[in-house]
Parts: sequence; C-alpha cells; structure tokens
Amino acid sequence: MILGICGSPRKKATEYILNQALNDLKEKDFETKMFTVRGKTISPCKHCDYCIKNKECIQKDDMIEAYSLLKKSDGIIIASPMYNGGISAQTKGMMDRCRALGAEDIDILKGKIGMSIAIGGDRVGGQELAIQQINTFYILNGIIPVSGGPFGANLGSCFWSKDSLDGVKEDEYGFKTLNKTLKRFVEYLNKYKK
Ligand SMILES: Cc1cc2nc3c(=O)[nH]c(=O)nc-3n(C[C@H](O)[C@H](O)[C@H](O)COP(=O)(O)O)c2cc1C
Repeated sequence: MILGICGSPRKKATEYILNQALNDLKEKDFETKMFTVRGKTISPCKHCDYCIKNKECIQKDDMIEAYSLLKKSDGIIIASPMYNGGISAQTKGMMDRCRALGAEDIDILKGKIGMSIAIGGDRVGGQELAIQQINTFYILNGIIPVSGGPFGANLGSCFWSKDSLDGVKEDEYGFKTLNKTLKRFVEYLNKYKK
C-alpha cells in the first residue's frame, strides 16, 4: 500500500497534487491511501519519553490512525506546503510523533520507499529545503528516499501554486517534476517491494 501524507490543513493545492500522484499510482495497480492533517488533531511531541518506556505514544489523538497506516505501507509520499521556507508545522509534527514508532521497533519503517512533494506560493519559496527536510526524516528512519533524477527533478517534486488551486494546476514544470519522481518511485517499489 502506498500512503500519501498531506501536510496542508486545507483542501487546496497540496491535497490536489497528492491526489493526482495517488491516482497515477492507482492506474498502475498500486493500492493507495491518503492521510491528511486537515481537520485532524495531531499534537506536537512532548518528549515525555512515555513511548520509550511503553512502546506507544501517550497522546491518543489522530496520529493513532497514521501510525497504523505508516506501518502497513510499502511506500510513503509526503506532500507539504511551504511555510516560512520549509515544511508546514503539521508535517513536522507528524514526523516528530514517529518517535513512538521507533520506540516500538527501531526498524519499523526501514526499507520502505519515500518520495517528496513540496508546494510553495512562490516559485522559489523553500521547496528544495523542504524536500531535504523530508528526505532527512526518511534517512533517519531507514526509509529509502527517491528523487526524480537530474534534468528536471533533482531532489523530488516541486510546485509553484501562486497561492491558489488554479495556480498549481497551471504549473506545467511542476507536473514534469511530479512525473519524473513518480517514475523512479515506481521503479524502486517494483525493485524492492515486489
Ligand atoms: C504561514 C504560511 C507561510 C508561508 N510561507 C511560504 C514560504 O515561505 N514560501 C512559499 O513559497 N509559500 C509560502 N506560503 C504559501 C503556501 O505555501 C502556498 O499558498 C501553498 O500553495 C499552500 O498550500 P495549500 O494550497 O495546499 O494550502 C505560506 C503560507 C502560509 C499560510
């Protein structure tokens, strides 16, 4: 199963693009599932270390559903809007809460395949840094990060929304980066997950 995580609290550009990616994968016969932070309660990690002792998070909020999906997934796509030149607080909050997954089993996410989608209101609004933040999360957790490769999607998929849904739909270059990154994501899934 491929899990798409949408780090935007709105049903706008990020959710639209992530859905496009998941629909493409569905057409290629992958089972997909979207988890969005929209309308969810996901509190930040409190570093209480309850998880280290008890192998589960003390905070019983909507992250419980995400934990179960993360465990079941073969591949993960994290899509985040740019907030202050990097990923949204909601995306980072989910990443930090994954400390409890590692406490349960340090290798729990190891060997899954990960790709990134970064969407900014500006053409150059922090997308590359955001992708590096996501890829760092992947590497820290043993997830294999995938880029789209040179000549178009060096680190992953980047979009320019001009702060609107219509804007992101017009970003032809963004779709090029998405298609290139999805192509490699599928290659890696077929190579390592079948
Ligand atoms: C708090 C905040 C900070 C933002 N900072 C940036 C930024 O640093 N760079 C950028 O390109 N866009 C920035 N934006 C714009 C959003 O990234 C952009 O509108 C994006 O399309 C939002 O995704 P959504 O449509 O899925 O909600 C910011 C928006 C908000 C609300």
